[in-house]
Amino acid sequence: MSNGNGVLDDVIGWQDGHITAIDQTALPHRLDVLHITTVDQLVDAIVRLVVRGAPLLGVAGALGVALAVRQAEREGWDSARLDAEIKRIADARPTAVNLRREVLAIAAVLPDGAEAVEAAALEVRDTAIDVSRRLSERGADLLIEECGAGPLKVHTHCNTGALACLGWGTALGVIRALRDRGALAHVIADETRPLLQGSRLTAWELGQLGIEHYLVADGAGPFVISQRLSDAVVVGADRVAANGDVANKIGTYSLALAARRAGVPFVVSAPESTIDESTASGADIPLELRADEEVTSFQGVLAAPEGTRALNYAFDVTPADLVTAIVTENRVIRP
Ligand code: MRU
Repeated sequence: MSNGNGVLDDVIGWQDGHITAIDQTALPHRLDVLHITTVDQLVDAIVRLVVRGAPLLGVAGALGVALAVRQAEREGWDSARLDAEIKRIADARPTAVNLRREVLAIAAVLPDGAEAVEAAALEVRDTAIDVSRRLSERGADLLIEECGAGPLKVHTHCNTGALACLGWGTALGVIRALRDRGALAHVIADETRPLLQGSRLTAWELGQLGIEHYLVADGAGPFVISQRLSDAVVVGADRVAANGDVANKIGTYSLALAARRAGVPFVVSAPESTIDESTASGADIPLELRADEEVTSFQGVLAAPEGTRALNYAFDVTPADLVTAIVTENRVIRP
């Protein structure tokens, strides 16, 4: 199934028994497509955020099982080795539940053989595209219900578009649907330190879509909301716990606090596959801690005294009581 996104149709694919993926670390300067032929390469790509974003990690995990099967055939792995390699893919990043969920789902097809595994993995990809379109439209309905027909000023965080999800995206998909309905004034996008998914990826995607946008430093986000320069905050999620607590990119929680204080709706847009009923609350969500250097350096140049230690949480948890609504492709949940 095509994304209908032009260049972004290549976000992730399956070609001659291997994975192809846009290298998201090279954007916005270069649009490179990587060919991933081994589990080592895939795990490295996931850890370095070459492929990233919860729904896309799910698709990468599904295709990763097919990739592991191909490598097992080539290199004569026994089933214990295959299981161990598949587990490495599932464990490559801990917070986005989609990765582990889809790896386990496709691993369950292993007894049916390589062709069945590939077909099931490709179905995960097609489903992600379809889900994101339905989610986007439902989210736009919700925003208009909450805020009126606009045109609305929408604040968002991190990157949640085609690059992160295929199709239209989660939060960025809602924004795209609003634009198509003539209900969008402009977007305010946080830069999203330390890896700049907002400035490198979201600003790039919005530019591709011709959507008017302003970039703000993460620290400016809550103030901008307090000034009512945003009518609503819309973000994605990496995992929604059973009680409605939401793990998303670090910096999301401060936007939720600011939104509550300003009386602005704080909406989470996420597929059903991001809801994890087996995780009781945010306290049980594993939050990824990444390397100090991502904070103490800026694009390879040291930006703090040598030896400075960092506390580099990649995600935070927004408690359910700060969430106005969670919209999925099937329903609207009001925690
Ligand atoms: O570390 P990343 O870039 O994978 O984090 C992505 C996010 O936090 C997104 O907001 C999330 O996955 C929601 S939808 C893509």
